[in-house]
Amino acid sequence: MEKKWWHDKVAYQIYPKSFYDSNGDGIGDIPGIISKLDYLKDLGVDIVWLSPCYPSPLADQGYDISDYYGIDPRFGTMEDMEKLIAEAKKRDMYILMDLVVNHCSDEHEWFKKACEDPNGKYGGFFYLRDKEEGKRPTNWRSYFGGSVWDDLPGTDKQYLHVFHKKQPDLNWENPELREEVYKNINWWLEKGLGGFRIDAIMNIKKALPLHDYEPDRDDGLCSVRAMLAQAEGIGEFLGEMRDRTFRKYDAFSVGEVFSEKPEELPDFIGENGYFSSIFDFNATIFGKSGKGWYDASAITPEDYKNCCFQAQERVGGVGFLSNIIENHDQPRGVSYYIPQGDCCPESKKMLAALNFMLRGIPFIYQGQELGMENVPFSSIEEVDDISSQDEYLVALNAGLSPEEALDAVARYSRDNARTPMQWSDEPHAGFTEGEPWLRVNPNYRTINAAAEQSDPSSVWNFYKRLIALRKDPLYAETIVYGVLEPFLRERHNLMAYYRKGEKTLLVIGNYQKKEQDVTLPAPCKKVLLNNYPEVSMEGRTIRMQGYQALILEM
Ligand code: GLC
Ligand code: CA
Repeated sequence: MEKKWWHDKVAYQIYPKSFYDSNGDGIGDIPGIISKLDYLKDLGVDIVWLSPCYPSPLADQGYDISDYYGIDPRFGTMEDMEKLIAEAKKRDMYILMDLVVNHCSDEHEWFKKACEDPNGKYGGFFYLRDKEEGKRPTNWRSYFGGSVWDDLPGTDKQYLHVFHKKQPDLNWENPELREEVYKNINWWLEKGLGGFRIDAIMNIKKALPLHDYEPDRDDGLCSVRAMLAQAEGIGEFLGEMRDRTFRKYDAFSVGEVFSEKPEELPDFIGENGYFSSIFDFNATIFGKSGKGWYDASAITPEDYKNCCFQAQERVGGVGFLSNIIENHDQPRGVSYYIPQGDCCPESKKMLAALNFMLRGIPFIYQGQELGMENVPFSSIEEVDDISSQDEYLVALNAGLSPEEALDAVARYSRDNARTPMQWSDEPHAGFTEGEPWLRVNPNYRTINAAAEQSDPSSVWNFYKRLIALRKDPLYAETIVYGVLEPFLRERHNLMAYYRKGEKTLLVIGNYQKKEQDVTLPAPCKKVLLNNYPEVSMEGRTIRMQGYQALILEM
């Protein structure tokens, strides 16, 4: 496999609104990010992905862009952005921006012009259909609830939005639209970006002609996914985008790809794939139900192990997955993947080690390195996120009580990950000197960066050691390129695997509170990482403590 500059990197996702506020308006901003670059460098981060900071009405927190060539004044200026890129470069770091091109904002000038003249050039940038009384062009349900069709203001047409009504879908069948997208990507890459994370990209190809599918809920609508499963030919768009943009700059691109077919993996992430990498969402989608969050089933340690191993098997040596335990669309990984009641520094470190040592590119989401947890919501009024609000209504409509509905939403709410970064035990966790736009998690007095950086046994320091190990010249080749082979796969609540390259490493996690004995197949040369002070070993048998994680050189 041809080596690429991103293979051995460690990436970190910033949600700008909640990272660090430099001017006291309660909203995180780019100068705030610049002031924390040394923090990230110290941790060992190489690539920083910023969730959108373009001008936006923030209907979906920036995933609704009204100008692809600007920076929202709430986040700073273009000069700030240029400075961030330059300051990152000084530290050998790369900045990724978020590429949101399945849709724009209804406040983008393209959409305004489409409203003025739906039959003109910009009408062709969107999916428009004639309005018929009492009938929608198709029966698809938006990801955020309700029909995907709304009236195009001032006209006799309707427009398609698979997400929120303030996020009209762009028509990728139109070559003029695609040119605009490529022009924008190149404009940013010229500024020195390292690349992009590519949002919701599997939605750009619709199954044509648009038509109804079998309803899957009482509302008579069907999930957009039913249509996407029938859409063919997305590769033509993705290949063209790669050739016209990323490839020319040797840029890193990581796709938010949910529904690729296994046989298409080489096209997506093989040598000369559409993307450098795609996220592994296997564990995040496990147990989800078509009915809504309220109907999802909890994931067990066994399920988590199987999800990771299945994804690894599917990809094998074809390319690189990007591995996550959380992002801005998910609850906190430690609250989700660790059985209830067992969330503690040891179990958090175990989850970190198991995820981080998988083959692929590790992505840390802001605060994950501190072991930040889900938020205790006491009412739906505290929830900002639009998808959580919709899921709350879906649960109520299904007959759940308000308490039960809140419970279900609280478990999965995207706001769990969106609360301000916990920097210190000062007011508002040191995130802002003003009033934060979203409530800070009350546990910031114990879980915060300042406290953890000065505590050698903290979750933060464990992450730092994991990153250092990945970069250690003795082990880097094995950790980056080594083959992954499960070990004792059938053993209950044990997740263990080899990484075999120049060296042979064994990663073992006792995924439960109870002790468990593990007999090594061969002598161990060295303990490279341990989330406990000691290893209790007799002969070749290790008595693993509750949630103990070990990385051994064999
Ligand atoms: C992606 C983003 C999510 C957003 C959606 C629509 O899934 O990660 O935050 O709501 O796309 O842009
Ligand atoms: Ca600010």
